[in-house]
Amino acid sequence: MIKIAIFASGSGSNAERITEYFNSNDHVEVSLILTNNPAAGVIERAQRLNIPTLVFNKKLFAKTNKIVEILQSQGIDWVILAGFLWLVPSNLTRAFENRMINIHPALLPKYGGKGMWGHHVHEAVVANKEKETGITIHYVNEHYDEGKVIFQAKCEVTENDTPESVAAKIHELEYQYFPEVIYKEILSAKNSVVE
Ligand code: GAR
Repeated sequence: MIKIAIFASGSGSNAERITEYFNSNDHVEVSLILTNNPAAGVIERAQRLNIPTLVFNKKLFAKTNKIVEILQSQGIDWVILAGFLWLVPSNLTRAFENRMINIHPALLPKYGGKGMWGHHVHEAVVANKEKETGITIHYVNEHYDEGKVIFQAKCEVTENDTPESVAAKIHELEYQYFPEVIYKEILSAKNSVVE
């Protein structure tokens, strides 16, 4: 079984979609959901989905190797960031090099970097009167939003759009594509291993 761990800081609707997508897959499963936020909605979703959760603080995450040790001891193969807001330290990016994928709610390199997350992105997109925005799914390195891009999808932004309506369009794209793109990456990495 290929095991996925998901990191999320907020509501966790993507984490839920990804978990449900792999529930019907005999070879891949979501085995652990991790969060930095003890009040995150993702915790309630994980309980409902029967997935173990782990809440961690900044010191443990950024200053120790504990998260890497936990992930390795549980046999985690892939790490997915689904609305996770902290910069990932290099011990963790190195341990999961080419095995850690993030989703960003904009067409990177536009609207990326520190402080550019969730509603901040959509507010900037509307304020700048962009005609389109979208999602970027990419590998994670130790810099915010800079790893190799795997996939992008676009949606239109009209004069009537608000940050909230843009967020809703973005979530639809994320639900439609993120689980499937993760699965394709897992399969292509597996196929490239010479056994
Ligand atoms: C998603 O739109 C995701 O792209 C974004 O946070 C939202 C989480 O929603 N991620 C970032 O902004 C990362 N920089 P969810 O908690 O409902 O899945």
